[in-house]
Amino acid sequence: MVGPKLVATMHWASVLIIVGLCRVSLSQYDDQYEDMAWLQHYLRSQSSSYSYSPYYEDEVPPYSSYSYVPAGSSVGEPVPEPPVSRECPQECECPPNFSSAMYCDSRNLRYLPFVPSRMKYAYFQNNQIGAIQEGAFDNATNLEWLALHGNQITSEKMGKKVFAKLKNLERLYLDHNNLTKMPTPLPRSLRELHLAYNQISKVPSNALEGLENLTALYLSHNQIHEIGSNLKGLKSLILADLSYNQLRRVPDGLPIALEQLYLEYNHIQTIPDDFFKVSPKLLYVRLSHNSLTNEGVSPNAFNASNLLELDLSYNRLQKIPRVSTSLENLYLQGNKINEFTISSFCTIVDIMNFSRLQVLRLDGNELRRNNLPSDAPLCLRWASVIEI
Ligand SMILES: *[C@@H]1O[C@H](CO)[C@@H](O)[C@H](O)[C@H]1NC(C)=O
Ligand SMILES: *[C@@H]1O[C@H](CO)[C@@H](O)[C@H](O)[C@H]1NC(C)=O
Ligand SMILES: *[C@@H]1O[C@H](CO)[C@@H](O)[C@H](O)[C@H]1NC(C)=O
Ligand SMILES: *[C@@H]1O[C@H](CO)[C@@H](O)[C@H](O)[C@H]1NC(C)=O
Ligand SMILES: *[C@@H]1O[C@H](CO)[C@@H](O)[C@H](O)[C@H]1NC(C)=O
Ligand SMILES: *[C@@H]1O[C@H](CO)[C@@H](O)[C@H](O)[C@H]1NC(C)=O
Repeated sequence: MVGPKLVATMHWASVLIIVGLCRVSLSQYDDQYEDMAWLQHYLRSQSSSYSYSPYYEDEVPPYSSYSYVPAGSSVGEPVPEPPVSRECPQECECPPNFSSAMYCDSRNLRYLPFVPSRMKYAYFQNNQIGAIQEGAFDNATNLEWLALHGNQITSEKMGKKVFAKLKNLERLYLDHNNLTKMPTPLPRSLRELHLAYNQISKVPSNALEGLENLTALYLSHNQIHEIGSNLKGLKSLILADLSYNQLRRVPDGLPIALEQLYLEYNHIQTIPDDFFKVSPKLLYVRLSHNSLTNEGVSPNAFNASNLLELDLSYNRLQKIPRVSTSLENLYLQGNKINEFTISSFCTIVDIMNFSRLQVLRLDGNELRRNNLPSDAPLCLRWASVIEI
């Protein structure tokens, strides 16, 4: 039903008549009017009063259920002017006991409400927001968390440098949107960047530059072909998730602090010799569902590391690659392995030299149980699960 009807006049090229509508009606907006509508909405949002709901321009034919009121007059219940520090867009909730947070999630919003400058936490997730207007966050420089996931934001409708002024932003959630490009520039203060489930195909060389505090980068479920040396300089990065993309090559250099690297579901064919050497802290690597062959994997690629867990399942390996004795979990199921080479785990076996492997999966290969060599128990003395 139609909510409180309020009319205001605004100047944007021409005078526009703007009619407030209640939330339920948002889904009836026609796509063709969206472009102008968000602009007006933003203009409205910038005015200090939050007594309106989203808007139309007057050229838009009115829907029969909404009545227009002549410009300049105002009808409906009088809305008291809130004190400045209590500013809150009408479509959102700003809890009185938590004055730096605004909750605007899951309410069918099509436009981004204005963010009052006191906000540190802004939640816009799970709406139908399609655009981020130029300058949308220019006054919200205190923002630390910005949740925009689960919307329909496209790169074309994202204003230039919208995040540039957010000098305190630590977490940016933009996953599950319709982005085709990396948003740039990103605030250097970022600690977590969530961009999974978009349609990003390229990561330009400057896209992640200077993000010295970034610890977690989520870029899975995109269409990235090449990541180049973009990760290398991210000196605080601990987790990089690039799974479910179109990568043909591993990243060119890894960050020094990296502990978790997720590259499953790509088209990676090769791993260079020193790939893992540069990341002494790397513990968890997932490379399942790629196109790795023994020819493509450098013989000592996995031995030159302190990895605890390595997932190489569903590739095209014919031999068990050499791994370090510190590895604890190795997943090799769904390959073409036809020989159980104990030398992949141990070159010497004695009291000190043995594999710390606990779980080894080799099912779905071309092995039989009686392929297990007789010296396997000595080398793999810690193994609790060996699946063949
Ligand atoms: C921007 O913030 C300042 C105070 O930080 C405030 O005075 C001003 O009204 C805000 N601008 C808008 C458009 O709300
Ligand atoms: C604010 O109040 C609500 C209920 O009135 C409560 O559930 C919530 O935990 C409070 N939040 C804080 C930060 O005190
Ligand atoms: C965004 O992507 C979803 C799913 O891929 C699609 O249904 C929707 O139409 C897209 N929206 C826009 C605005 O491109
Ligand atoms: C990174 O984090 C440190 C420590 O919290 C902080 O002092 C520094 O300003 C941050 N860097 C940026 C670019 O925000
Ligand atoms: C792994 O590397 C170490 C030292 O670099 C070497 O001694 C060991 O034999 C290698 N392990 C395998 C299984 O080749
Ligand atoms: C084997 O054990 C010796 C000590 O007995 C140690 O110095 C050497 O590094 C070990 N080699 C491997 C490959 O673990």
